[in-house]
Amino acid sequence: MTARKRTAVLISGRGTNLQALIDAAADPAYPAEIALVLSNVADAPGLDRAARAGIATKTISHREHPTRESFDGAVEADLFAERIEIVCLAGFMRILSDGFVRHRQGCIINIHPSLLPAFKGLHVHRQVLESGVRISGCTVHFVVPELDSGPVIAQAAVPVLDGDDEDSLAARTLEAEHRLYPIALRLLAEGRVKLEGSHARFADMKANTGILLNPII
Ligand code: GRF
Repeated sequence: MTARKRTAVLISGRGTNLQALIDAAADPAYPAEIALVLSNVADAPGLDRAARAGIATKTISHREHPTRESFDGAVEADLFAERIEIVCLAGFMRILSDGFVRHRQGCIINIHPSLLPAFKGLHVHRQVLESGVRISGCTVHFVVPELDSGPVIAQAAVPVLDGDDEDSLAARTLEAEHRLYPIALRLLAEGRVKLEGSHARFADMKANTGILLNPII
């Protein structure tokens, strides 16, 4: 087996997507290992999840940095020190500077709880419910400087049900997120999806799939 890709997960909160990645990477055959969990919030519950799994953690408070660039520089220094190859954003509530994103372009991915490019930004489930769409879902995409706008790697759909509120829709979507993120990280770590210009390029048809909990992968 080729070396597993050293992966960092950046979080700000509870870290359930982080947990899904930790669980996937517990299999030695999974092509990525979670080598570092970095939070900008000292008491983020996700840090405990990492510690329980024996994963190195780091907190860098954005409050201690006068500028976005200085915060991002501190993050990059830790990623470099840990020889991180792939960065997964998982509920990381900081906008990263253009310089940071460009430096890691093609190796930094994010999960968002809608079928992008619909419903970017915050209060996603409220936006979804107000719009009246009947299908929502989640997206893993390459991170580019513009927020929630990078090329899509994988998506999973969930129904919007009569009587849904933000909490019930969020819970249903989150279950799909937990299944989707490990699939998307696997594709990237195996080199089966790459960022080429402004598009995701897939190495094979199995990788190039809109995923509804895809049984092929
Ligand atoms: C998820 O809904 C994710 O899509 C969004 O932030 C939330 C993070 O949840 N970017 P968790 O911290 O992974 O539980």
